[in-house]
Order: sequence, then C-alpha cells, then structure tokens
Amino acid sequence: MAKITVSVIKADVGSLAGHHVVHPKQIEVAKQGLQLAVENGLIIDYYVFNCGDDLELIMTHRRGENNSEIHKLAWDIFKEVTEKVSKPLKLYAAGQDLLVEAFSGNIRGMGPGVAEIEFEERPSDPIVVFAADKTEPGAWNLPLFKIFADPFNTAGLVIDPRLHQGFKFVVLDVFEGAEVELNCPEEMYDLLALIGTPSKYVISKVFRKDGLPAAAASTTRLSLIAGRYVGKDDPVCIVRAQKGLPAVGEILEAFAFPHLVAGWMRGSHHGPLMPVSLIDAKCTRFDGPPRVVALGFQLHDGLLEGPADLFDDPAFDYTRRIACEIADYMRRHGPFMPARLGPDEMEYTTLPQVLEKLKGRFRKVE
Ligand code: F6R
Ligand code: MG
Ligand code: MG
Repeated sequence: MAKITVSVIKADVGSLAGHHVVHPKQIEVAKQGLQLAVENGLIIDYYVFNCGDDLELIMTHRRGENNSEIHKLAWDIFKEVTEKVSKPLKLYAAGQDLLVEAFSGNIRGMGPGVAEIEFEERPSDPIVVFAADKTEPGAWNLPLFKIFADPFNTAGLVIDPRLHQGFKFVVLDVFEGAEVELNCPEEMYDLLALIGTPSKYVISKVFRKDGLPAAAASTTRLSLIAGRYVGKDDPVCIVRAQKGLPAVGEILEAFAFPHLVAGWMRGSHHGPLMPVSLIDAKCTRFDGPPRVVALGFQLHDGLLEGPADLFDDPAFDYTRRIACEIADYMRRHGPFMPARLGPDEMEYTTLPQVLEKLKGRFRKVE
C-alpha cells in the first residue's frame, strides 16, 4: 500500500468584517469541492475549517508531497471560493493570497501556505494540525523546538528509549531559499542560534533520527513573493504523536507559554500567541491577539477521524489570561519598538511610504 500524505493548504481569500473571520458560505463551497475530489478518487478524505480569516483545507491522499494534482485542487477551490462567495458578497480582501493569475504546477510560491507530510500509517496514528492567524511561519520555531528538543517540555525525550535518540530539524533560510539539517541534542545550540531569528530561519520539517517523519510546517512569506506587505503568512503545521513520538499532551504543552510572535495589527507588531478553541479562532482586539488552534485526528486507512478541538479546555485558561495581560502590556507601547516590529520587517509594510515623505526635510548637522 502506498504511503499516506496529509496535505494542509490554506489561504486568506477574503473575510467577514475586515480581516476577522471566514464566511460560512466560503467553508460550504470548499467542502463541496473537496467532496467531489473524494468521489473522483483524487483524495481519500478532507476536513475544512478556519482560523480567523484563513480558510484551511486538510486533505489525505496517496499521491505524495508536492503533487501537482493536489496543489491544483486546492488552488482551484480557493479560486472558486473567491469567485462564488468572496467577490459577490464583497468580503474583505477577496482573493488576497492568490498572488498569481494561473496555476503553475506547485502551489508553493503562489501565495497559499502548505504543510505536507508523507508517511507509513501506523496501526494507530494520531496527528495534530495547528493553524494560526495574525502571525508568520517562524511562530512555530519555539513550540517545535520545545516539542522535539526540550526535555523540560517533553518528558519522553528523557524517559522513552524510542525518543531518547533525539530528532533532526530542517531549517529554511526564507530569504536565501537554502536549508540546513541540524541534529538534536548534539547541535542544539547551533539550531537555537538560527531559529531564534524566526523572521529569517524557519523550521520546515522534523524527523526522528531513524528517518521517521514527525512534523511539517508551512514556510511561505507572502511579502518575499510579492515584494510588499500583502497580509501575514498565517501558518499551518502538522505534528505526528504517540508511540515513539511526543505524546499529544507534550505537543500541546509547548503552547502553554504564550510566546511573542510577529504579526498582529498590520503584520507589524509583536504579540502573544494565544491558544484557543475553534469557536474563539477569530481575532478582535487590535486585530488580534494572534491565535492558534490545534485539531487532533486519528487516521485510519487515510480517513480522518475527528477533529478533537484540543485547546477547548479550561487547562489553557491560565495561558489565555497571561496572553491577555501580555497583549495589554504590549499595546501600551503604541507605535514604539519592540512592540512594533523593527525596520527590517517594516520594509515590506506601508511605513517606508510615510518615511519617504520626510527624506527631503533632513538637514545635515555640522
Ligand atoms: C494583519 C491584518 C490586519 C490588517 C489591518 C489593515 O495580518 O490582516 O491587521 O493589516 O486590518 O488592513 P487594511 O490595510 O486592509 O485596511
Ligand atoms: Mg485577511
Ligand atoms: Mg489571517
């Protein structure tokens, strides 16, 4: 039997009330498209949901990663949702993430975010799909490090001989389009030296040392494709769990600390990443704070059993309260760094247009 591939492909193709939330009709149209693809035998199963203004398609199939038919399916669905729902209803930023006119074989580099992982389905195979809104792919760096390399987060790294060997991280330099593999725990400090700069270095994949695929994350930076600020590249990530991989609880534990990520209002501010249930996956205050949802599934012959809405739990209330306190603290800085992003990141926003106006007014001081 061919291996299973889980493909999570997402795009912001317009939303209700500004950049707030995907419209139910958009979800309906996406579901119809994917149902047809099941009937035609292209995919095995699917799940459609949203995190804020991002439409998320989970698809299972046996066609491998970077398959052009699967990528085209997602592209066509985003186009259809745009034409049938976003445009007629004049939803905000209709078709925003579809940066090119025509599909060209691989959806990577065309706007939408992609996380894909191909593996041999185990006798019981739990997966967790994460989706975040109002942030960027580097937001996964800290939690992925904690899940697969931090023994204070993942007890299994110490206790379970199957995890004890450690994990291999693939890190992408999003500016250079070059990647490097680093082994943990041996090269932990080298890994941290890179991924502590999440705007440039992004964890794209994690493997167990014996080659077992453990996690995959989206890496698209819209501004690097378009050369300007389009919207934040609200990322997705797939993590496999249990039986020689981190437990679901170890995976979720990494989100109990609401770390600061780049994004939030106008993609230009640092804010805490708040873990929320699907019901609360919609940004409000200052277009935020940035949010993350976690959907748990069991795979059976490629079918997706679930989801379990994993952050829908009072055990994360405390994290959410701290996130609200941090949001308040950061907001009080107004337009000042480091609440506002630094000049490198602001280069892709509309700030340079404002600064341009002042250029001629600077006088040389002797
Ligand atoms: C952040 C985001 C929003 C918008 C903001 C301004 O990723 O999407 O914070 O940047 O609402 O949007 P415009 O310029 O479209 O009015
Ligand atoms: Mg939007
Ligand atoms: Mg979004």
